[in-house]
Amino acid sequence: MHEPILVDEDGRSYQRNIKNNKEYRYYLDKGTLPNDWWIDIQALNPAAKERLGYPTQKPRALLERIIQASSNEGDVILDGFCGCGTTLDAAEYLKRNWIGIDISPIAISLMKRRLQDSYKTDLSKFTIRGVPKDKESAIELWVKNPFAFQDWWIMEFEVFSSTFGKKGADQGVDGLGMYLIPTVEQPIKAAFQVKGGKVQSKDIDALLGAMVKHKCELGVFLTIQSPTEPMLKTVANSGHFSAAGFNYPRLQILTLEEFFSGKTLQLPKFNITFKNAQSISKFVDQSGLDL
Ligand SMILES: C[S@@+](CC[C@H](N)C(=O)[O-])C[C@H]1O[C@@H](n2cnc3c(N)ncnc32)[C@H](O)[C@@H]1O
Repeated sequence: MHEPILVDEDGRSYQRNIKNNKEYRYYLDKGTLPNDWWIDIQALNPAAKERLGYPTQKPRALLERIIQASSNEGDVILDGFCGCGTTLDAAEYLKRNWIGIDISPIAISLMKRRLQDSYKTDLSKFTIRGVPKDKESAIELWVKNPFAFQDWWIMEFEVFSSTFGKKGADQGVDGLGMYLIPTVEQPIKAAFQVKGGKVQSKDIDALLGAMVKHKCELGVFLTIQSPTEPMLKTVANSGHFSAAGFNYPRLQILTLEEFFSGKTLQLPKFNITFKNAQSISKFVDQSGLDL
């Protein structure tokens, strides 16, 4: 509604609304009549600091307004399609309880990291349900939905899934991580590849090829099946990447079993993948990866 501003007999400005032949006056000294559209909250621009790289992300200010208008502190906010967690972020900020639901492991991982980064030790306690907790449930996910399995496992390492939930041609790189090594100016890039079924030597060769193509210094092969002898030999022969006194195996293989038994990858400590959503997008554009 966009009513003209009128002035009454006492000189007070007001807006008028007529309903059922009855006049309602909204005095401006008591606040303006709310519009049914909002033009004061800008869409997120591509360089916005709060942008996480999630394609449909909304500005937090928008969700804050909706939550403030419709709930009180301590209430429960539910978002059944919560994407990268803008609603949860706004609800946490406004001291509401919250429940978020999303079908995508990428979304779940992103919102977990977003909340942890924003609220650190002040973050309310929460639990995540429905993501694999052991080898059996991970295999179950793979059988049901190999793409969701791939996204879930990639995101466990907090790297960017190159499918980003899309079912596309496998270009040898399923995920991409970016890391900083102290005193080295350029970020180090790690290519991740996930295999659910049978593995063979040519899979590792394909990863090596993709690392060259996409200019990645490091490669990680994640597999449900155990690697074959020739694969292990290729890994052993692939040497190390060294910079500023730090050394990392150029190629690493991690099985699902090893992952759940707590074995970790040797990667640079400073993972900047999600601090660097813009650079990732640029890298992906330049390297021709289909996001
Ligand atoms: C438009 S996005 C929400 C974006 C969110 N407003 C934000 O700011 O990030 C819709 C989300 O719904 C999720 N989704 C799609 N189908 C779903 C389903 N059946 N159950 C739960 N989530 C689903 C998608 O994964 C996606 O993250």
